[in-house]
Amino acid sequence: MQKDAINSIVILTGAGISAESGLATFRGPDGLWEGHRVEDVCTPEALARDAVLVHRFYDERRAKLAQVSPNAAHQALARLDARWAGDLLIVTQNVDDLHERAGAKRLLHMHGELKSALCAACGEAAPWSDALPPASACARCNEPRLRPDIVFFGEMPYRMDRIYEALENADLFVSIGTSGAVYPAAGFVQTARAVGARTIELNLEPSAGSALFDETRLGPATRLVPDLVDALLA
Ligand code: OAD
Repeated sequence: MQKDAINSIVILTGAGISAESGLATFRGPDGLWEGHRVEDVCTPEALARDAVLVHRFYDERRAKLAQVSPNAAHQALARLDARWAGDLLIVTQNVDDLHERAGAKRLLHMHGELKSALCAACGEAAPWSDALPPASACARCNEPRLRPDIVFFGEMPYRMDRIYEALENADLFVSIGTSGAVYPAAGFVQTARAVGARTIELNLEPSAGSALFDETRLGPATRLVPDLVDALLA
């Protein structure tokens, strides 16, 4: 059964929302992320094996943020955040900072952030905007074990309690620009459906999970997201 009135919204975003800003998605036609296999740059094993490569990879991604800007889709979600009187949680899988630069506040980065460094010794995360050489020291515990604050494959995404609490109260769940290939995010639609939320997917092409949504709208995020936000705020 679906709820008639919408008060509580959960929005999941993936790399597709930042594609039109000029940031590469993860699963391009060649299956590589900026020329690398995911397992070479996005696993604890890769970090242990070749910290120089992994740090440099994320340094390049971090530096690239200065060359890109939020697009109309990020801006539309920020507008929704500012004006929506009900509950809203924007959960992004993206490690870029384009949602917050557009002005979104009710936002959570479940896969970490490029502009943060995590201490592998004490667990402290701290804002970081420059290059992060391996063996940089933590300001809190002084151990030389700072690493990119990215949730690698095999690690637990952030804030799962908060995300499931929001999903269990959702009237509307919207998934934007994600291939539905990576769990637990790919399973959020099922949690939302189970509580009777309406579920909408906005993506350039059908995703692995399209059949799980009430509705899939195909097209670029910069067109689909502003249209959806306009309709919600109307
Ligand atoms: P993917 O690269 O797997 O998927 C991006 C999706 O966006 C694809 O389905 C594209 O069709 C779609 N897309 C591309 N351009 C678009 C546009 N202009 N408008 C709308 N949709 C568009 O990226 P994610 O699903 O975000 O994890 O990947 C999930 C996770 O896998 C990432 O967070 C990352 C990666 O490994 C970590 O870093 C831990």
